[in-house]
Amino acid sequence: MDTTPRRVEHQQTDRGYVPVYATGTVEQPWASYSSTDHEVWDTLYRRQKALLPAYACKEFLEGVERFGFGEGGIPRFDDLNEVLGKATGWKIVAVEGLLPDEVFFDHLANRRFPVSWWIRKPDQLDYLSEPDLFHDLFGHVPLLLNPVFADYMQAYGKGGMKAHAIGPEALMNLTRLYWYTVEFGLIRTDEGLRIYGAGIVSSKGESIYSIDSTAPNRIGFNLERVMNTKYRIDTFQQTYFVIDDFEQLFDATGPDFTPIYAKLATGEATSAAEVLDTDKVYQRGTREGFATSGDN
Ligand SMILES: [Fe+2]
Repeated sequence: MDTTPRRVEHQQTDRGYVPVYATGTVEQPWASYSSTDHEVWDTLYRRQKALLPAYACKEFLEGVERFGFGEGGIPRFDDLNEVLGKATGWKIVAVEGLLPDEVFFDHLANRRFPVSWWIRKPDQLDYLSEPDLFHDLFGHVPLLLNPVFADYMQAYGKGGMKAHAIGPEALMNLTRLYWYTVEFGLIRTDEGLRIYGAGIVSSKGESIYSIDSTAPNRIGFNLERVMNTKYRIDTFQQTYFVIDDFEQLFDATGPDFTPIYAKLATGEATSAAEVLDTDKVYQRGTREGFATSGDN
Protein backbone atom coordinates (compact mmCIF):
# COMPACT_ATOMS: atom_id res chain seq x y z
CA MET A 1 0.00 0.00 0.00
CA ASP A 2 1.45 3.38 -0.96
CA THR A 3 1.81 6.01 1.71
CA THR A 4 2.36 9.75 1.53
CA PRO A 5 5.95 10.56 0.49
CA ARG A 6 8.11 11.83 3.30
CA ARG A 7 11.78 12.74 3.03
CA VAL A 8 13.69 10.55 5.44
CA GLU A 9 16.31 12.42 7.43
CA HIS A 10 19.17 10.75 9.19
CA GLN A 11 19.34 11.24 12.93
CA GLN A 12 22.44 12.55 14.63
CA THR A 13 23.40 10.26 17.50
CA ASP A 14 26.62 9.58 19.40
CA ARG A 15 27.43 7.07 16.65
CA GLY A 16 27.17 9.73 13.98
CA TYR A 17 24.32 9.91 11.49
CA VAL A 18 22.07 6.88 11.65
CA PRO A 19 19.60 6.24 8.88
CA VAL A 20 15.94 6.23 9.80
CA TYR A 21 14.40 3.49 7.76
CA ALA A 22 11.03 3.80 6.14
CA THR A 23 9.98 0.53 4.59
CA GLY A 24 6.93 1.42 2.52
CA THR A 25 6.69 2.31 -1.14
CA VAL A 26 5.22 5.64 -2.16
CA GLU A 27 3.63 7.20 -5.21
CA GLN A 28 6.26 9.27 -7.05
CA PRO A 29 5.22 12.85 -6.15
CA TRP A 30 6.06 14.11 -9.63
CA ALA A 31 3.90 17.24 -9.46
CA SER A 32 5.69 18.39 -6.33
CA TYR A 33 9.20 18.47 -7.81
CA SER A 34 10.48 22.04 -7.94
CA SER A 35 12.09 23.62 -10.99
CA THR A 36 15.37 23.32 -9.07
CA ASP A 37 14.83 19.54 -8.72
CA HIS A 38 14.30 19.23 -12.47
CA GLU A 39 17.35 21.37 -13.17
CA VAL A 40 19.49 19.13 -10.96
CA TRP A 41 18.40 16.13 -13.02
CA ASP A 42 19.09 17.98 -16.28
CA THR A 43 22.55 19.09 -15.14
CA LEU A 44 23.59 15.63 -13.91
CA TYR A 45 22.14 13.98 -17.00
CA ARG A 46 23.93 16.40 -19.35
CA ARG A 47 27.29 15.82 -17.66
CA GLN A 48 27.10 12.04 -17.71
CA LYS A 49 25.62 11.92 -21.21
CA ALA A 50 28.63 13.85 -22.53
CA LEU A 51 31.12 11.72 -20.64
CA LEU A 52 29.85 8.15 -20.67
CA PRO A 53 30.07 7.14 -24.34
CA ALA A 54 33.82 6.76 -23.78
CA TYR A 55 33.50 5.09 -20.37
CA ALA A 56 30.29 3.07 -19.92
CA CYS A 57 29.48 -0.33 -21.46
CA LYS A 58 27.18 -0.36 -24.47
CA GLU A 59 24.40 -2.19 -22.63
CA PHE A 60 24.14 0.70 -20.18
CA LEU A 61 24.20 3.34 -22.94
CA GLU A 62 21.53 1.43 -24.88
CA GLY A 63 19.35 1.34 -21.77
CA VAL A 64 19.62 5.12 -21.36
CA GLU A 65 18.53 5.54 -24.99
CA ARG A 66 15.63 3.12 -24.74
CA PHE A 67 14.20 4.87 -21.70
CA GLY A 68 14.52 8.19 -23.51
CA PHE A 69 16.26 9.87 -20.59
CA GLY A 70 16.97 13.49 -21.46
CA GLU A 71 17.05 17.04 -20.26
CA GLY A 72 13.29 17.35 -19.92
CA GLY A 73 13.41 17.12 -16.15
CA ILE A 74 12.94 14.17 -13.82
CA PRO A 75 11.36 11.21 -15.63
CA ARG A 76 8.02 9.82 -14.53
CA PHE A 77 8.37 6.31 -13.13
CA ASP A 78 5.05 5.28 -14.69
CA ASP A 79 6.40 6.03 -18.18
CA LEU A 80 9.62 4.14 -17.51
CA ASN A 81 7.69 1.17 -16.13
CA GLU A 82 5.86 0.82 -19.45
CA VAL A 83 9.19 0.23 -21.17
CA LEU A 84 10.76 -1.79 -18.37
CA GLY A 85 7.81 -4.10 -17.79
CA LYS A 86 7.63 -5.07 -21.46
CA ALA A 87 11.38 -5.63 -21.69
CA THR A 88 12.19 -7.73 -18.62
CA GLY A 89 9.20 -7.70 -16.27
CA TRP A 90 10.95 -5.43 -13.78
CA LYS A 91 9.21 -2.50 -12.12
CA ILE A 92 10.50 0.66 -10.43
CA VAL A 93 8.94 1.41 -7.04
CA ALA A 94 9.39 4.78 -5.35
CA VAL A 95 10.78 4.72 -1.81
CA GLU A 96 11.75 7.31 0.75
CA GLY A 97 15.38 6.23 1.13
CA LEU A 98 17.57 3.32 2.12
CA LEU A 99 15.68 0.19 3.04
CA PRO A 100 16.39 -2.48 5.64
CA ASP A 101 18.20 -5.41 4.01
CA GLU A 102 15.34 -7.89 4.05
CA VAL A 103 12.89 -5.39 2.53
CA PHE A 104 15.39 -4.51 -0.20
CA PHE A 105 16.08 -8.19 -1.00
CA ASP A 106 12.36 -8.95 -1.16
CA HIS A 107 11.92 -6.21 -3.76
CA LEU A 108 14.76 -7.55 -5.91
CA ALA A 109 13.63 -11.16 -5.58
CA ASN A 110 10.27 -10.03 -6.99
CA ARG A 111 11.76 -7.93 -9.79
CA ARG A 112 10.99 -4.60 -8.19
CA PHE A 113 13.74 -1.97 -8.03
CA PRO A 114 13.40 0.64 -5.26
CA VAL A 115 14.26 4.19 -6.35
CA SER A 116 14.49 7.11 -3.91
CA TRP A 117 11.83 9.59 -5.06
CA TRP A 118 13.82 12.70 -4.05
CA ILE A 119 16.82 14.22 -5.83
CA ARG A 120 19.95 15.83 -4.37
CA LYS A 121 20.37 19.59 -3.94
CA PRO A 122 22.36 21.74 -6.41
CA ASP A 123 25.31 21.91 -3.99
CA GLN A 124 25.50 18.09 -3.88
CA LEU A 125 26.11 17.39 -7.56
CA ASP A 126 29.43 15.66 -6.92
CA TYR A 127 28.92 13.96 -3.60
CA LEU A 128 26.05 12.67 -1.55
CA SER A 129 26.24 10.21 1.33
CA GLU A 130 23.02 8.34 0.53
CA PRO A 131 21.43 7.21 -2.72
CA ASP A 132 19.05 9.72 -4.32
CA LEU A 133 16.88 9.53 -7.43
CA PHE A 134 19.74 10.28 -9.82
CA HIS A 135 21.91 7.49 -8.44
CA ASP A 136 19.09 4.96 -8.22
CA LEU A 137 17.41 5.77 -11.50
CA PHE A 138 20.15 6.86 -13.86
CA GLY A 139 22.73 4.57 -12.27
CA HIS A 140 20.81 1.35 -11.76
CA VAL A 141 17.74 1.19 -13.95
CA PRO A 142 19.17 1.23 -17.53
CA LEU A 143 20.80 -2.18 -17.08
CA LEU A 144 17.50 -3.70 -15.89
CA LEU A 145 16.57 -3.66 -19.58
CA ASN A 146 19.32 -6.21 -20.19
CA PRO A 147 17.76 -9.67 -19.72
CA VAL A 148 20.85 -11.33 -18.25
CA PHE A 149 21.63 -8.52 -15.85
CA ALA A 150 17.94 -8.36 -14.90
CA ASP A 151 18.06 -12.05 -13.97
CA TYR A 152 21.26 -11.51 -11.99
CA MET A 153 19.59 -8.81 -9.91
CA GLN A 154 16.69 -11.09 -9.09
CA ALA A 155 19.03 -13.96 -8.20
CA TYR A 156 20.91 -11.56 -5.95
CA GLY A 157 17.68 -10.68 -4.13
CA LYS A 158 16.92 -14.35 -3.57
CA GLY A 159 20.47 -14.92 -2.35
CA GLY A 160 20.06 -11.97 -0.02
CA MET A 161 17.01 -13.45 1.64
CA LYS A 162 18.92 -16.69 2.21
CA ALA A 163 22.00 -14.88 3.56
CA HIS A 164 19.84 -12.80 5.86
CA ALA A 165 18.50 -16.01 7.37
CA ILE A 166 22.03 -17.46 7.78
CA GLY A 167 23.52 -14.51 9.67
CA PRO A 168 25.46 -11.24 9.59
CA GLU A 169 28.73 -12.66 8.23
CA ALA A 170 27.00 -14.27 5.26
CA LEU A 171 25.20 -11.01 4.66
CA MET A 172 28.49 -9.11 4.71
CA ASN A 173 29.96 -11.50 2.11
CA LEU A 174 26.93 -10.99 -0.10
CA THR A 175 26.96 -7.21 0.37
CA ARG A 176 30.52 -7.17 -0.95
CA LEU A 177 29.32 -8.97 -4.07
CA TYR A 178 26.72 -6.23 -4.66
CA TRP A 179 29.26 -3.52 -3.93
CA TYR A 180 31.91 -4.80 -6.34
CA THR A 181 29.47 -5.70 -9.14
CA VAL A 182 26.17 -3.80 -9.14
CA GLU A 183 27.68 -0.64 -7.66
CA PHE A 184 31.32 -0.59 -8.76
CA GLY A 185 31.73 -3.22 -11.47
CA LEU A 186 33.79 -2.96 -14.64
CA ILE A 187 33.38 -5.13 -17.74
CA ARG A 188 35.91 -6.20 -20.37
CA THR A 189 34.95 -5.18 -23.94
CA ASP A 190 36.63 -4.99 -27.34
CA GLU A 191 37.11 -1.27 -26.71
CA GLY A 192 38.83 -1.87 -23.38
CA LEU A 193 37.48 -1.82 -19.84
CA ARG A 194 34.09 -0.18 -19.46
CA ILE A 195 31.84 0.69 -16.52
CA TYR A 196 28.58 -1.04 -15.64
CA GLY A 197 28.41 -0.26 -11.88
CA ALA A 198 25.75 2.24 -10.82
CA GLY A 199 27.93 3.91 -8.19
CA ILE A 200 30.40 4.78 -10.93
CA VAL A 201 28.12 5.78 -13.83
CA SER A 202 26.20 8.16 -11.57
CA SER A 203 29.44 9.92 -10.50
CA LYS A 204 31.42 12.09 -12.90
CA GLY A 205 34.60 11.90 -10.84
CA GLU A 206 34.60 8.14 -10.37
CA SER A 207 33.63 7.48 -14.00
CA ILE A 208 36.91 9.03 -15.06
CA TYR A 209 38.94 7.64 -12.15
CA SER A 210 37.74 4.04 -12.46
CA ILE A 211 38.91 3.77 -16.07
CA ASP A 212 41.75 6.29 -16.44
CA SER A 213 43.53 6.45 -13.07
CA THR A 214 46.66 4.40 -12.47
CA ALA A 215 46.02 4.35 -8.69
CA PRO A 216 43.45 1.52 -8.24
CA ASN A 217 43.82 -2.18 -8.95
CA ARG A 218 41.72 -3.73 -11.69
CA ILE A 219 41.32 -7.46 -11.12
CA GLY A 220 39.40 -10.23 -12.87
CA PHE A 221 36.11 -11.16 -11.19
CA ASN A 222 36.20 -14.20 -8.93
CA LEU A 223 33.19 -14.82 -6.70
CA GLU A 224 35.01 -15.97 -3.59
CA ARG A 225 37.66 -13.28 -3.92
CA VAL A 226 35.02 -10.57 -4.20
CA MET A 227 32.98 -11.88 -1.27
CA ASN A 228 36.10 -11.84 0.89
CA THR A 229 37.27 -8.32 -0.02
CA LYS A 230 36.63 -5.25 2.15
CA TYR A 231 35.64 -2.01 0.49
CA ARG A 232 35.74 1.75 0.93
CA ILE A 233 32.65 3.83 1.45
CA ASP A 234 34.47 7.15 1.91
CA THR A 235 36.71 7.33 -1.16
CA PHE A 236 36.83 6.10 -4.74
CA GLN A 237 37.46 2.36 -4.82
CA GLN A 238 40.98 0.99 -4.41
CA THR A 239 40.15 -2.14 -6.37
CA TYR A 240 37.69 -2.71 -9.20
CA PHE A 241 36.69 -6.20 -10.31
CA VAL A 242 36.29 -6.86 -14.01
CA ILE A 243 33.74 -9.29 -15.46
CA ASP A 244 34.02 -10.83 -18.95
CA ASP A 245 30.29 -10.49 -19.62
CA PHE A 246 26.97 -10.47 -17.76
CA GLU A 247 26.59 -14.23 -18.22
CA GLN A 248 29.64 -14.72 -16.03
CA LEU A 249 27.96 -12.68 -13.33
CA PHE A 250 24.68 -14.53 -13.54
CA ASP A 251 26.39 -17.94 -13.65
CA ALA A 252 28.31 -17.08 -10.49
CA THR A 253 25.03 -16.87 -8.57
CA GLY A 254 23.95 -20.36 -9.68
CA PRO A 255 25.59 -22.45 -6.94
CA ASP A 256 24.44 -22.40 -3.32
CA PHE A 257 26.60 -19.85 -1.45
CA THR A 258 26.27 -21.61 1.92
CA PRO A 259 29.58 -23.58 1.67
CA ILE A 260 31.37 -20.40 0.53
CA TYR A 261 30.08 -18.47 3.53
CA ALA A 262 31.24 -21.28 5.82
CA LYS A 263 34.71 -21.31 4.26
CA LEU A 264 35.14 -17.54 4.34
CA ALA A 265 34.06 -17.40 7.99
CA THR A 266 37.21 -19.33 8.95
CA GLY A 267 39.72 -16.92 7.38
CA GLU A 268 40.79 -13.31 7.16
CA ALA A 269 39.18 -10.85 4.79
CA THR A 270 41.36 -9.25 2.11
CA SER A 271 41.91 -5.50 2.46
CA ALA A 272 40.52 -3.19 -0.21
CA ALA A 273 43.91 -2.30 -1.72
CA GLU A 274 45.55 -5.75 -1.68
CA VAL A 275 46.56 -7.77 -4.77
CA LEU A 276 46.84 -11.56 -4.32
CA ASP A 277 49.14 -14.00 -6.15
CA THR A 278 46.06 -15.82 -7.43
CA ASP A 279 44.50 -12.68 -8.97
CA LYS A 280 44.08 -12.14 -12.66
CA VAL A 281 45.55 -8.65 -12.73
CA TYR A 282 44.52 -6.17 -15.42
CA GLN A 283 46.25 -3.38 -13.60
CA ARG A 284 48.25 -3.32 -10.39
CA GLY A 285 47.44 0.09 -8.94
CA THR A 286 50.09 2.59 -7.87
CA ARG A 287 48.00 3.20 -4.70
CA GLU A 288 48.62 6.92 -5.09
CA GLY A 289 46.49 8.85 -2.61
CA PHE A 290 45.16 5.74 -0.83
CA ALA A 291 44.19 5.99 2.82
CA THR A 292 45.73 3.15 4.81
CA SER A 293 42.85 2.46 7.16
CA GLY A 294 39.10 2.56 7.06
CA ASP A 295 38.10 -0.49 5.01
CA ASN A 296 34.62 -1.82 5.54
FE1 LIG B 1 23.10 1.96 -5.63
